[in-house]
Amino acid sequence: MKGIVFTEFLDLVEDKFGMEMVDSIIEASELESEGVYTSIGTYNFSEMLSLLSNLSERTNITIDDLLLVYGEHFFSVIERSYIGLVDTYNDPIEMLASIENHIHVEVRKIYPEAELPTFIVEEKSKDLLIMVYKSSRAMYYFGLGLMNRTFKHFNTTAEITLEKIAEDGTEVRFIIRRN
Ligand code: HEM
Repeated sequence: MKGIVFTEFLDLVEDKFGMEMVDSIIEASELESEGVYTSIGTYNFSEMLSLLSNLSERTNITIDDLLLVYGEHFFSVIERSYIGLVDTYNDPIEMLASIENHIHVEVRKIYPEAELPTFIVEEKSKDLLIMVYKSSRAMYYFGLGLMNRTFKHFNTTAEITLEKIAEDGTEVRFIIRRN
């Protein structure tokens, strides 16, 4: 997992819960990196899981809810850092349907070692997109946060429902209906 995902996560934790919380979850997680991340480095996904579960324990917020808020925050990082890529689009459904064949393809050119999910589009029309998320990392709530903010970016909203295909969340269907 790319360092930027860790650095932005810890910045958000500091912002919402303070520096003591950042220190506390790093300490409790017994990380190989010792909690020292650079945005261009690459680290084990298991470190993110430890940080998330320690934060969840201390805040009584579920990991899903933490990932949702983090996904929403990460979209603003994307807006700032990849303006050119986001500006290619003028419609949220077009943008989401292009993650697999365009957006994440470009991400992989910048970071060949990126760990990215797979999105398979099952149905697409002007106001409806059905696609299946697949990833061993089961970060579908992070994806939901990114999707919510994608609609907001284009000054619109959508109703998004999730259907778990695999119980462990490694395969999830998103049904996205523009309001
Ligand atoms: C992961 C970039 C749009 C879904 C990532 C990562 C980057 C990235 C850098 C981390 C990879 C790693 O840690 O190795 C971008 C950029 C985007 C974009 C630049 C737009 C210009 C989206 C959108 C979604 C999405 C709109 C909506 C669903 C995900 C998910 C992950 C991810 C779910 C977590 C990894 C996983 O689940 O396996 N993306 N992304 N991305 N991205 Fe994107």
